[in-house]
Amino acid sequence: MDYFDFKNGELYCEDCRVLDIEKEVGTPFYLYSAKTLERHFKAYEDALHGIPHLVCFAVKANSNLAVLRFLGELGAGADIVSGGELFRALKAGISPSRIVYSGVGKTGEEIKEALNSGVLMFNVESTGELEKIGEVSRTIGKAAPISFRVNPDVDPKTHPYISTGLEENKFGLPVDEARRAYEYASRNEEFLIRGISCHIGSQLTEVSPFVDALKRVLSLVDELEKKGIKIEYLDMGGGLGIKYDNESPPLPEEYVKALKTTIGSRDLKLILEPGRSICGNAGILVTKVLYKKKTPKKAFLVVDAAMNDLARPSLYKAFHEIVPVVEQDAKMSTFDVVGPICETGDFFARSRSLPEVNPGDLLAIRSAGAYGFTMSSNYNSRPRVAEVMVYGDKFKVVRRRETFDDLIRGETFFHE
Ligand code: LLP
Repeated sequence: MDYFDFKNGELYCEDCRVLDIEKEVGTPFYLYSAKTLERHFKAYEDALHGIPHLVCFAVKANSNLAVLRFLGELGAGADIVSGGELFRALKAGISPSRIVYSGVGKTGEEIKEALNSGVLMFNVESTGELEKIGEVSRTIGKAAPISFRVNPDVDPKTHPYISTGLEENKFGLPVDEARRAYEYASRNEEFLIRGISCHIGSQLTEVSPFVDALKRVLSLVDELEKKGIKIEYLDMGGGLGIKYDNESPPLPEEYVKALKTTIGSRDLKLILEPGRSICGNAGILVTKVLYKKKTPKKAFLVVDAAMNDLARPSLYKAFHEIVPVVEQDAKMSTFDVVGPICETGDFFARSRSLPEVNPGDLLAIRSAGAYGFTMSSNYNSRPRVAEVMVYGDKFKVVRRRETFDDLIRGETFFHE
């Protein structure tokens, strides 16, 4: 459920008319509904009520400072994967004690920053990384809180590019290796064993792969316990899917219930790292129709946003619903909705049935709040679009549109 609704035939974000925002901001722009973020975050909090837990929002899904600050104030921690994300999370006021650090390629410098700032734990993804963390820990004289990310080898049944818990994926340690790594780490004072983690993929629409993964992780937890290695935090990662088209993913309540049942009476603090299920449906990308173009084979709507602004359709053939911002009675036609970039892959929809809109009309590309702006680029020297946040009847530009000067910031000539 989100707060993008039509009133009198016009699209609103909460109590703000999208047309009014466009008048001030121009197009294209991302538009986020804070109340939708709140609703989705609370769905997790409510589901987790009564058990020790921490919801660490996956910063990669949407790293706008206003979004992070808003979620942080509601009680969210952060799941980060880079020094840049650590910087953002801290800037947004999220306490380091609520930050978990995942990712297969943490550099020595990033590890140092994170250890110094006091993150809750590093989700360690290889023995090489463990060694590096040990090295940093010795240099700065501070034990590193760690968890090992276990690769449980389960099929999350999602797009191959966003599956992460299969043996062939680069993520985590196989169970046997993880067991040995825990034993090793427990004997070394550079490390403070805090938890165990796993993340099997993104946009999962069923609960069963999570439960399968959890069972494998728990059997390792039990084994470790017998060896005197106590696990305090169980981090199940993110991955719960959302409705883009006709999927019917489980609600956080259902998902958490299945986890709780599987965990049983074990004394573990549960960490979740949801990204998409919190912010995906809390954002839209608003774009303007520039041209209608007909060729003998196709009809195109050329819009002013492009694959550099929202890469998901080009990259994963992802479906995003597209609706005119002002409801139209016009007859329906079939269009490819494409951007101005010089690539055939620059599309938002192919052969999509839409009303016969006209140049100047606005379209909303829905479910664009996760992995939208964060995956955007300046390709074709296109300034990145503005991000706007709404709460009730107020809106604010929370990232201004980039200028041409932003495009060349940091560049110099070889010969001055
Ligand atoms: N934790 C870890 C360790 C992750 O790698 C991810 C996502 C998450 C949490 C959050 O997962 P979520 O709850 O958002 O599914 N760009 C792709 C998605 C890549 C997901 C990568 N990892 C897309 O646009 O679909």
